[in-house]
Amino acid sequence: MSLLVTGIGELVTNGPDGDGPLGILHDAALVVEDGVLTWVGARRNAPACDARIDVEGRAVLPGFVDSHSHLVFAGDRAGEFSARMTGVPYDGGGIATSMAATRGAPDDELRSLVAARVEEMRRQGTTTVEIKSGYGLTVADEARALRIACEFTTETTYLGAHVVPPEWRGDRAAYVDLVVGEMLAACAPHARWIDVFCEPNSPHAFDEAESRRVLAAGVEAGLLPRVHGNQLGPGPGVGLAVEFGAASVDHCTFLGADDVAALVDAADTTVATLLPGVEFSTRSPYPDARRLIDAGVSVAIATDCNPGTCYSSSMPFMIALAVREMRMSPAEAVQAATRGGAKALRRSDIGRIEVGAKADLCVLEAPSHEHLAYRPGVPISRVLGEERWV
Ligand code: NIG
Ligand code: FE
Repeated sequence: MSLLVTGIGELVTNGPDGDGPLGILHDAALVVEDGVLTWVGARRNAPACDARIDVEGRAVLPGFVDSHSHLVFAGDRAGEFSARMTGVPYDGGGIATSMAATRGAPDDELRSLVAARVEEMRRQGTTTVEIKSGYGLTVADEARALRIACEFTTETTYLGAHVVPPEWRGDRAAYVDLVVGEMLAACAPHARWIDVFCEPNSPHAFDEAESRRVLAAGVEAGLLPRVHGNQLGPGPGVGLAVEFGAASVDHCTFLGADDVAALVDAADTTVATLLPGVEFSTRSPYPDARRLIDAGVSVAIATDCNPGTCYSSSMPFMIALAVREMRMSPAEAVQAATRGGAKALRRSDIGRIEVGAKADLCVLEAPSHEHLAYRPGVPISRVLGEERWV
């Protein structure tokens, strides 16, 4: 069964053909067969197909790739958010609150919470999401979080090294032993990635030596590395990520000139994933995306959807923040939310519209990609085929 999509006023391909860095085609069409794109081009050249949808001049782009989220949690921390808005700084201490709620939630409750969050993302045009563990922090609870995450995505990340949980505070080294030992063994079968909250500026997170142990053990177990780094202050996160050939180092809020230079050198390997919803929700300074892009760093944007630093599932909101607060152009922000996210997950089958790619498509109730930042807070993006405009 082949499906022809016509009437695409603006098609963002992210490929080499078409106009500008987004590879834009106008008055375009595409063909989908078994979930894969089998033809892309000008409407006038489109082949005959079994069925047809006309999107009547709307813009179509690759579905958003949200390459960083923490969706497996119970409870919320609205009170912590309110306190932050009146001046209490974020230091990662609230993660223990979500951990307690998550440990106490039955499997079915956690599963339906994740399902609702993935559905909320999809309703806004996100077609791929990475999901981390990190609110269990026992062998059984981390493995459970990853088993549930696997029901929703292949991009699952073991984050036993999120923080040192309260019961291990007297013996951090013993907790790291657990993370790289029994917990890793239980989690590795359910994870593609290993991550660590490398942040010497938080008393709860991990320093350089601890983070290095975690990443090395994960790689040894066959997982691919990614890093939470340089979120709360300058630190070793970016350097470690580059040293390990990580696919991504995420946050990158506080970078020195050496970090930027390392990311430029590693641009083919390591993406700087910026999470502007975190700066919004923690009242922090935004990362300097302009400096990174101008220097030649590979950049992605993602939501980091989590109960502490950013309880938003909205890639369009991240695009708007990236443009308004981080001085990215609308085109750069859209590319970072699609092709950038795909690169941060080492995926070439998503984040672009070309023959052979997955037919993960986002359609806008608008004629161009610019409207994503131009109409902040307005629900204009949907997964193609699931659109119900309000
Ligand atoms: O990416 N920084 C570490 N982890 C999350 C926040 C988790 C939380 O506060 O619950 C983040 O911002
Ligand atoms: Fe995170």
